[in-house]
Amino acid sequence: IRDDAPAVGDYIANYICKRINEYAPTAERPFVLGLPTGSSPIATYKALIKLVKAGKLSFKHVITFNMDEYVGLPRDHSESYHTFMFREFFSHIDIPPSQVNILDGNAEDLIGECKSYEARIKAVGGIELFLGGIGEDGHIAFNEPGSSLASRTRIKTLAYETILANARFFNNDLSQVPRMALTVGVATVLDSREVVVVVTGQRKALALSKAIEEGVNHLWTLSALQLHPWALIVVDEDATAEL
Ligand code: GLP
Repeated sequence: IRDDAPAVGDYIANYICKRINEYAPTAERPFVLGLPTGSSPIATYKALIKLVKAGKLSFKHVITFNMDEYVGLPRDHSESYHTFMFREFFSHIDIPPSQVNILDGNAEDLIGECKSYEARIKAVGGIELFLGGIGEDGHIAFNEPGSSLASRTRIKTLAYETILANARFFNNDLSQVPRMALTVGVATVLDSREVVVVVTGQRKALALSKAIEEGVNHLWTLSALQLHPWALIVVDEDATAEL
């Protein structure tokens, strides 16, 4: 528990920096990092950018996989997760663009795209550390309430609560929010050797308490982390309101 969102971002950025530097990645043995979008990780990205600019961290031998992407939103749309990731993070660090993996929500064969994403993760030896955020309904990536805890990368219809929550990024116009997304599954996240989740703000307090104080439950998919041997949830004071 840290005081506020910037302190959470600093903590996670320093943690990831330490993990990557201890791993000492090379071209032959890259560090594979899973990444989220949303407002929660922005403080972490800002702090990571500072570490890169200060010469304390490099992404030259890091391969990234993003958690999810909207279906049907043009890649260059200001709210696509592709645009978000380059705007908030990738354009400011030294990662070669060829090492960035983001699901293609405009692929002609969406099911094939999901299958090949899983294969690409496997081909590089699996994910070393998956950084995630959660939705107000406790979803991790876009694994909405009711998702199978054994789910893999797939197409998911967004819950009404998620469409409402994300309308703020689409001029508060519900009709502009995509209805579907491609997302890694709960099991894809659990397969990572380590999972780190950022939870900030009182809006997430109920989800946090359901996920850590109640049993493993597919209605609050973050709770699946209880099954993971190496998981860390970093929260601010506001998010602890229901604990
Ligand atoms: C979307 C993303 C999730 C993210 C969530 C929270 O639903 N698919 O991966 O965790 O937003 O967003 P925010 O951090 O803006 O509350």
